[in-house]
Amino acid sequence: MNPKFARFVLALFPFLHYTNNTTPANNATNPGGLNAVTSPPFYPSPWMDGSGGWGDAYAKAQAFVRQLTLLEKVNLTTGVGWEGEACVGNVGSIPRLGFRALCMQDSPLGVRFGDYVSAFPAGGTVAASWDRALFYERGYQMGLEHRGKGVDVQLGPVVGPLGRSPNGGRNWEGFSPDPVLSGIAVAETVRGIQDAGVIACTKHYILNEQEHFRSPGNFKDFGFVDAISSNLDDKTLHELYLWPFADAVRAGTGSIIYNKINNSQACQNSYLNNYILKGELGFQGFIMSDWSAQHSGVSTTAAGMDMTMPGDTGFNTGDSFWGPNLTVSILNGSVPEWRIDDMATRIMAAYYLVGRETAQVPVNFNSWSTDTFGYEHAFAKTGYGLINQHVDVRKEHYLAIRSAAARSTVLLKNTDGILPLSGREKFTAVFGDDAGENPNGPNGCPDHGCDNGTLAQGWGSGTAWFPYLITPLDAIKNEVTSNGGVVQSVTDNWAYPAINALARQASVAIVFVDADSGEGYITVDGNAGDRNNLTLWQDGNTLIQNVTALCNNTIVVIHSVGPVLVDAWYNNPNVTAILWAGLPGQESGNAIADVLYGRVNPGGKLPFTIGRQQSDYGVDLIYEPTNGHDSPQDNFAEGNFIDYRYFDQKNITPIYEFGYGLSYTSFSYSNINVEKIAAGPYTPTTGTTKAAPVLGNFSTNTADYQWPANLTYVNTYIYPYLNSTDLREASMDPDYGMDNSEYLPEGVSDGSPQPKIPAGGGPGGNPALYDVLYHVTATVSNNGTVAGEEVAQLYLSLGGPDDPKVVLRNFERLSIQPGQSATFTADITRRDVSNWDSASQNWVITNYAKTVYVGSSSRKLPLRAQLSL
Ligand code: NOJ
Repeated sequence: MNPKFARFVLALFPFLHYTNNTTPANNATNPGGLNAVTSPPFYPSPWMDGSGGWGDAYAKAQAFVRQLTLLEKVNLTTGVGWEGEACVGNVGSIPRLGFRALCMQDSPLGVRFGDYVSAFPAGGTVAASWDRALFYERGYQMGLEHRGKGVDVQLGPVVGPLGRSPNGGRNWEGFSPDPVLSGIAVAETVRGIQDAGVIACTKHYILNEQEHFRSPGNFKDFGFVDAISSNLDDKTLHELYLWPFADAVRAGTGSIIYNKINNSQACQNSYLNNYILKGELGFQGFIMSDWSAQHSGVSTTAAGMDMTMPGDTGFNTGDSFWGPNLTVSILNGSVPEWRIDDMATRIMAAYYLVGRETAQVPVNFNSWSTDTFGYEHAFAKTGYGLINQHVDVRKEHYLAIRSAAARSTVLLKNTDGILPLSGREKFTAVFGDDAGENPNGPNGCPDHGCDNGTLAQGWGSGTAWFPYLITPLDAIKNEVTSNGGVVQSVTDNWAYPAINALARQASVAIVFVDADSGEGYITVDGNAGDRNNLTLWQDGNTLIQNVTALCNNTIVVIHSVGPVLVDAWYNNPNVTAILWAGLPGQESGNAIADVLYGRVNPGGKLPFTIGRQQSDYGVDLIYEPTNGHDSPQDNFAEGNFIDYRYFDQKNITPIYEFGYGLSYTSFSYSNINVEKIAAGPYTPTTGTTKAAPVLGNFSTNTADYQWPANLTYVNTYIYPYLNSTDLREASMDPDYGMDNSEYLPEGVSDGSPQPKIPAGGGPGGNPALYDVLYHVTATVSNNGTVAGEEVAQLYLSLGGPDDPKVVLRNFERLSIQPGQSATFTADITRRDVSNWDSASQNWVITNYAKTVYVGSSSRKLPLRAQLSL
């Protein structure tokens, strides 16, 4: 590291030197858990063992890594620097073995910066489908598109943020504030992506619940403020935020990190990475830093990080915490050999797990330019040549996208069955900026950082370019005109005379409104990623008020990133129907027309609660520093009680509860039956691991690590080579040579067999947690005259004084013909009926009476039964 830079970094981030890491290491089974202020240290970093279906991939990865030199291993773990290659993240290549570099590319809803790709509905939108097959299919198709572009790692799906507060700017990238809905959605998505031959990266581990102060930085209004610290206890960690990550690990995934948790940066938080993720959850893949989330060198290696992205300390500095510094730290013994072997093995095991050795094609697009010819190394402006082959990877995915968007639409109100429309309405009037096109085109704002025209995805890195965007106005016009009707529109929300004139004539008015949010590096209309409030954007309330004042048949369609406030108008009798359509992706207009005109009978259910006012949600984000220049301390004091669990706890009546959604038909529930399944007892995992494997050997002669004479240097690119044969000089670090024992935590280098973690034992945790203990069935009947789909939901009351009133545990989307019935079937696992016990650091089934409920939403649960324990 450049000495000037090192001093600067240390001045800026004084915690770099192993804060929280000074107490003893792996005190075997119980590091004590999180205490909401600090994270206990846990070393050494667990090495993978190939368990849980990773056996073949592990063997292949070991064979590969055994052949590598130290420089090649370093190259595999360190990104080449921002804009160094075609993808948003790239590690170095291993030309000697014909191994091309790995490409990591956003996003959770499509190939970011790719042309000829599809823009799928956002995660928080498909969550409303509550449909496992749809989750899988979306994942699979996204995976195929990434594969076709040459991407090795898709940077998605998202379950962090989970959605602690509805204002969180990136909630829409994830699925739902409910951990079970999120867990099922993320597992199916991971399976889909990886079955398509691409590594899924489940992110952001963990507690990345807001954009304000996500990273340390200089803020216009406040000066320097350190990263926010999310502080919480280990019961909440296990029962809420970790839950979907466990499901993702069980489905076999790569991972990513950000933020500061209990005052230790996530990338160097040994408790969360070593103990929880790699230890207890038995995670076999690799932990990647989020972009610029790494703030130290050896301590991140020790704390379990396996790959740094994009590789440089800050964008385009040309310096890296790893790269040459990792080479130095292995040569000088700060990082043991087995550790870099494990890092490389994990990366390669993920590669083999999903079959990259046959699925990989050359990267054929470029994140930094849409031109056919340009620079291979965009920042350095070198390597001019063919950079974009414009490969069309969309196939027939538009069909599934349209269907997914329609099936994720939630019908919130439908007075006297006003919907579906026939298409033969005499005069259809469409209102709202949200109905039409962005005047600058569907990709007119970089990373979609604006709210112009219809909203079909949020903003930030979680986006993809639209190949086209069917607007609601296009689709409705098409519908009405093909039936010979009259259709007109006003898309300027402030054109009051025109709105009034049109509303007066309409036999049906369809008003489109929206609310947007995104990632914090872009501010839209004063919202720095996170939403400042839950109101409609573009003065949507006034638009609705103006139209409903003159038209007594007004249908409101909401495109939003999450809950919005509807209290001012939802009960207005002139509002005859309300639909929540989320962020539907490229087929937006077609999908909403399918629902409005009855080709699709809505079956979506809200994946969050719509409350009367913002304060009904309890927790809010931290928008201003609370601690001067130090980390704002965000205490997750509400514990498990977010979204519907909070409304239930405080007895607050929502407007539309979690799980709510209507249909064009009606359903009833009967005949609950609970069968107890014989399962063995829950046995805490015991024994010890094998010793850490060391793969190959490396030269200790520092002369072997110098810059090769024939290398064409690319400016700011990160290489593994050293500037000097003297390690102190090579490190360029003024502190170099301090006795390691002064600041390397105990146990960091210990590769001897380690005690296994009682709550661990396989990917996802102790395998017995997933034993099925009960099998529940119920009858769901369609009492109407049209076919429909109903999401039957199973909730549990765990019965303890600290437990939420009910928690979702399972669901099934059933397709039922009119007058027919279907059987809802659902399993309840041991994990489902357990609570986390901080004292024993394990899951326990308490003695409190447990009740199972089945129904159509979190508050409409007509069926119930006791679980015999
Ligand atoms: C930072 C974001 O947090 C992450 O989600 C994204 O994958 C990377 N940037 C790369 O764009």
